[in-house]
Amino acid sequence: MKNRDYLIVMKQILQLIDEGVHVVDPEGNSVVYNRSMAMLEKMESQDVLKKPFAEVFKNVEESTLMQALEKRQTTMRKEQTYLNKDGREITTVNTTVPVIEDGRLIGAIEIAKNITDVQKMSRTILELRREMDQPQRSKEHKIKKYSFDNLYGQNEAFLETVALAKRAAKINASVVIYGETGTGKELIAQSIHFASDRQNKPFLAQNCAALPANLLESILFGTAKGGFTGAVDRAGMFEQANGGTLLLDEINSMPLELQGKLLRVLQEQYIRRVGGTKDIPVDVRILATTNEPPLDLLEKGVLRKDLYYRLNVVGINIPPLRQRPDDILLLAEQFMEKYNKKYGKQIWMMSPSARQKLLEYDYPGNVRELENIIMSAISMAEDEHVLSDKHLPINRRKSLPHQDIYELKEGGLDEYLEHIEKSMIENALVAHGGNISKAAESLKIKRQTLQHKIKKYKMQAIEEAKK
Ligand SMILES: Nc1ncnc2c1ncn2[C@@H]1O[C@H](COP(=O)(O)OP(=O)(O)OP(=O)(O)O)[C@@H](O)[C@H]1O
Ligand SMILES: [Mg+2]
Repeated sequence: MKNRDYLIVMKQILQLIDEGVHVVDPEGNSVVYNRSMAMLEKMESQDVLKKPFAEVFKNVEESTLMQALEKRQTTMRKEQTYLNKDGREITTVNTTVPVIEDGRLIGAIEIAKNITDVQKMSRTILELRREMDQPQRSKEHKIKKYSFDNLYGQNEAFLETVALAKRAAKINASVVIYGETGTGKELIAQSIHFASDRQNKPFLAQNCAALPANLLESILFGTAKGGFTGAVDRAGMFEQANGGTLLLDEINSMPLELQGKLLRVLQEQYIRRVGGTKDIPVDVRILATTNEPPLDLLEKGVLRKDLYYRLNVVGINIPPLRQRPDDILLLAEQFMEKYNKKYGKQIWMMSPSARQKLLEYDYPGNVRELENIIMSAISMAEDEHVLSDKHLPINRRKSLPHQDIYELKEGGLDEYLEHIEKSMIENALVAHGGNISKAAESLKIKRQTLQHKIKKYKMQAIEEAKK
């Protein structure tokens, strides 16, 4: 194979494998950053590639990749747990090596394997073991209790969502809750249960991702003795939740075959334990969540249509935080209060620059991410009473409207630039509650210029809101 062809094949392999790969050259510039690594760290490859490592990443001193480069140090299979940009806890096993040829340093390589799912699974298995040994423990199974009182928001669309959820609490129907990660699906699900007639009966939740089909099946439906090697008689979640509510989280990750079995249970209202012969009647209300739009899931064929229509008697959509900017500061203040108490701090207010920074960000991890930002700001602050922008661990601004860029290609550069200008103006106006002077100041243009541009782009809604 020719060198060039070999290189092409290697590049393909790098993009296809599940392990994250990050390579830096001797100067510390990133030269390889594959798709898995980008997904793991929630970064865009183009934001990392060809740039100095220290410019893109925080905690440079702690980075094993930099240690490999600077001290020629090797790190084998080091386990790391961290929060990614969505505020999700991720556990990886990393190996980092310097690459040395004839005593000359060529670069450093980091390979990261995501073991988050494996860890989740092993925890679930441990938990199940313990429950099998001490069945009474499962009753004490502690879940944080949330109710509608814990939901904060003033945005109109969000309030409609909450109103619909409150109506759903009064009836007995199945519900599908759709929202991006961190929008509060679990919170809404629990609120529905604890406001329903079933509030004094169990509320159980099961995540459908990260478990192989047969394990998930025996968790949901239980096992009968002798069903398969070593199986004992054990009630599944349907029996345990009898009379109450079962939350099936990430229903779209449930294997298709099991979706079929679930549908049958919902229609016939009895279950059969795995390996068993007896039909056991159950009365369980199902709430299901997905973090991808249900219609996309149907189209992709990962969610059975018949199951979806059976579950989606009430369909609740929670809008992402970037679509309800009027909730950002309200939630931030709520979280300030919560973490002031928790960490014994006395941060009473936010500086205008902190407010602006919070409003300018687009929160891919939604409310959970905002909560993490405030939590870390409060925990880092010392004897201060004002939360300022320097406390806020936000390094990125709102991303440009990617999808629109594509469509606008035909319109040419002028139209594209106008589009960017318009969205920057909109963001500035929203960030300053429609105050034109302040928005102009933040955009570093004259007030008159801004007014002229608002007219030009016919931002009537904002002008009217001002009146
Ligand atoms: N409207 C809200 N008011 C107060 N807290 C909220 C609100 N929405 C979300 N949160 C907080 O955000 C965090 C994430 O919420 P939750 O776990 O319900 O999200 P989720 O949609 O289930 O996310 P995922 O898809 O990642 O499982 C929680 O700590 C919750 O308390
Ligand atoms: Mg959830």
